[in-house]
Amino acid sequence: MKVLLLCGGEGTRLRPFTHSIPKQLLPVVNKPILYHILEWVATRTSLREMVLVTGENQRIFQQTVGDGSNWGLTISYVYQPRPLGLAHAVLTAEAALGKDPFLMYLGDNLLEESLQEYLAVFEKKRLDCLLFLRKVPDPENYGIAEIEDDRVLRVMEKPEKPPSNLALSGLYLFSPAIFQSIRNISPSARGELEITDAIQNLLDRKKRVEYRLLTGWWLDTGSPNALLEANRRLLQKVTPVSLGRIINSQVGGGLHLEKESLIENSKINGPVYIGTGCLIKDSTIGPWVTVGDGGTVTGSTLKNSILFSGVRMENYALHQSIIGHRALLAGKHRSDQTAALPPQPFSRLLLGDDGVVS
Ligand code: G1P
Repeated sequence: MKVLLLCGGEGTRLRPFTHSIPKQLLPVVNKPILYHILEWVATRTSLREMVLVTGENQRIFQQTVGDGSNWGLTISYVYQPRPLGLAHAVLTAEAALGKDPFLMYLGDNLLEESLQEYLAVFEKKRLDCLLFLRKVPDPENYGIAEIEDDRVLRVMEKPEKPPSNLALSGLYLFSPAIFQSIRNISPSARGELEITDAIQNLLDRKKRVEYRLLTGWWLDTGSPNALLEANRRLLQKVTPVSLGRIINSQVGGGLHLEKESLIENSKINGPVYIGTGCLIKDSTIGPWVTVGDGGTVTGSTLKNSILFSGVRMENYALHQSIIGHRALLAGKHRSDQTAALPPQPFSRLLLGDDGVVS
């Protein structure tokens, strides 16, 4: 069984960040989402062969993850010339997948639990499709399944009036029967070949489709808020460690401090991750903050935010913010300002790579 990892899509909901980086390569807790996915495959499943489908930006994926050997995986690349839908991407990869069943994984999804036991169920029962469903509060934004007992009755893509709150997560197990079903369907109203329509076609053809409910967390990181939630989820798993220096500061709640970094005259409310070569001075950081490598934060307060690498920030108070690589934020210094009395009020900023606010 192979893994089909889909890394296309324009990531419009994650602009401005996706103007310069594909959404699957945006960093969460200081490394690209895609690295978290490769680690998950390498450590939580027995699958080692991966087919990665990309659009125009294939070269940046090749430069970032190469042949997968850093993770003990073998990655081959397939080029999807136009973004004509998830099902179209699957068809593009048909030759590379061959006659084997495969795990399809959407490259902006993150998942906690291992699916290893389901891989075995899928093979043993010789299923054509196994869906992983998760209850969501906003079913109109997802592919939705209608079920009865252990049967899947219908699936539909982003219905206006969802018949259930069970979303299709971005992970699917398929037999090669899916290729014929994709050939049987037509583009949807948004002009795409929808994977959900292909699954409905499997049901119409009386193929063996089952589902399992996910119990751990699952995230589609396609929006800024979801990226921040991914940051919170992954920060919970980070091991507290201090490889840098801490001077005259108060630290609580779990801090991961990388090497060559200095925290001085500051307060850390974990969970907080501080990358390599950072300076944190006269600031209050946390909870739920990642400061990427080479970041400088002085006279500032940060809560629930992600700074990509190389950010410089002075005299700012941010919450629920995402700050792009090498961005510069220079606020006004107040003479009465100390770590105990942060500059107020908090702002929320989504600032792209190399952005400047001063
Ligand atoms: C896609 C699928 C949808 C699924 C979702 C999961 O939607 O079309 O059925 O529920 O992924 O992440 P998209 O996020 O591309 O709009």
